[in-house]
Amino acid sequence: MELRSKAAYEMTCQNATFAAEFIMYGDKTQSGGDINRAAEALRSGGLVALPTETVYGLAANALNPEAVLKIFELKKRPAFDPLIVHVPSLDAARSFVKAFPEGAERLAERFWPGPLTLVLPKRQLIPDLVTSGLDTLAIRIPNHPLSLSLLRELDFPLAAPSANPFGYLSPTEAAHVASRFPEGIDYILDGGPCEVGLESTIVSFATGEACILRPGGLEAEAIRDCVGEVKIAEQSSSKPDAPGMLSSHYAPRTPMLLGDLDELIKEHPHRKVAALHFCRKGEIPGEVLSARGDLREAAKNLFAALRRLDESDAELIIAEYAPNEGLGLAINDRLKRAAYRGESEAGK
Ligand code: TXA
Ligand code: MG
Repeated sequence: MELRSKAAYEMTCQNATFAAEFIMYGDKTQSGGDINRAAEALRSGGLVALPTETVYGLAANALNPEAVLKIFELKKRPAFDPLIVHVPSLDAARSFVKAFPEGAERLAERFWPGPLTLVLPKRQLIPDLVTSGLDTLAIRIPNHPLSLSLLRELDFPLAAPSANPFGYLSPTEAAHVASRFPEGIDYILDGGPCEVGLESTIVSFATGEACILRPGGLEAEAIRDCVGEVKIAEQSSSKPDAPGMLSSHYAPRTPMLLGDLDELIKEHPHRKVAALHFCRKGEIPGEVLSARGDLREAAKNLFAALRRLDESDAELIIAEYAPNEGLGLAINDRLKRAAYRGESEAGK
C-alpha cells in the first residue's frame, strides 16, 4: 500500500504540471494533488472533482443537502437520478445502511476498495436528495490512494456522480473534467488517468436477492464466483431499475453508429467518418481500443478515445462491439447508450 501511494503521488505531480498548463488557457478551475485543499473545500460545502479507479467523480458532503444540490445544478442532472455515496471503510458503509445482507457482506469483503457499488436499505441520516427519495442507498469504497486518503481525512461521506455534464461521456482524466467545467468546481484533485476506465458495477440487494443493475468495472463472472448466480437487470427500458440507466447516456455529441465497420462505411460514403476499432485497425482512420484485444486495456481507453473522436472533425463515429464477456459486457453497454441517439439521427 505504501508503494502504491508513492507511485500515485509521483503520477499526480506530473499531471499537476499538465493541469497547470491547462489553467493558462483561461480555465478558472484549479487542479493539483493537494488533499488538504480538497478537504477544506468539501468542509465548506464546495464541490471537488476527485479521481477514482473507475472514472472521476464530482464530490460534495453527502450529509449537506445544499452542497449536494450544487452537484445536480452543475451537472444539469435530473433530480430523479440518485447519487453514489463514497466511504473510506466497511464500518463507515455499515453506519449508513439499515442492513448488510450476507451476500453484500461477502462482495464488500472481497472487492472493496474497488469498482463495485452496493444498493442497500438506507438509514434516515442520508438526505433524500442524495437518493432521489428512494429508500435504498448506493454506496462504495473507491480504490484510489488520493481519494482514500481524502475520505479518511473527512468526518462525512462523499456523494459523487461521474464528473461530466449529464448524458455526456464520463471523464477518465483530470483534464476531461476541466474542459467541460471551466468553472463551478472549487478544486480538481488530479490523480492521473483512471485505471479501470468504466464506472462501477452496481449490485442491488433492495429485494434481498443480488441483482446487477449496471454492468461496470467489476466483471459479472467475478461476482458470480463470489456469491453464486446473480440476475442481470433488463438494460434497455426507458424506466430502468437504476434510475440513471437511460437508453441514451455516456454519449458523444457527434452522431455514432454501432455494428460492422466495413458495412457501416459503405452505407455512408459521403460523410467524414472516424472509427472506434476494438483491436484491429483496418482502412478506416480512428482509434484502436486495444491492439492485443485485451478487454481491460480497451475499457481503460474507451471514454478517452471516444472523446478524441468527438473532438475531431468527423461527422459520424462508427464503432464495433467488443466480445460480450468479462468487461466486454460493460463496454458494449456504454457503446449502445453512446450510439442510441445516433441511431435515430445519424442517418440523416
Ligand atoms: O464508478 C462509479 O460508480 C462512479 C465513481 C465516481 O464512483 N460514479 C458514477 O456515478 O458512475 P453516476 O452518478 O454517474 O452513476 C450512478 C448510478 C446512476 O445510474 C444511478 O441511477 C444509480 O447509480 N443509483 C444511485 N443510487 C441508486 C439506488 N438507490 N438504487 C438504484 N440505482 C441507484
Ligand atoms: Mg454518470
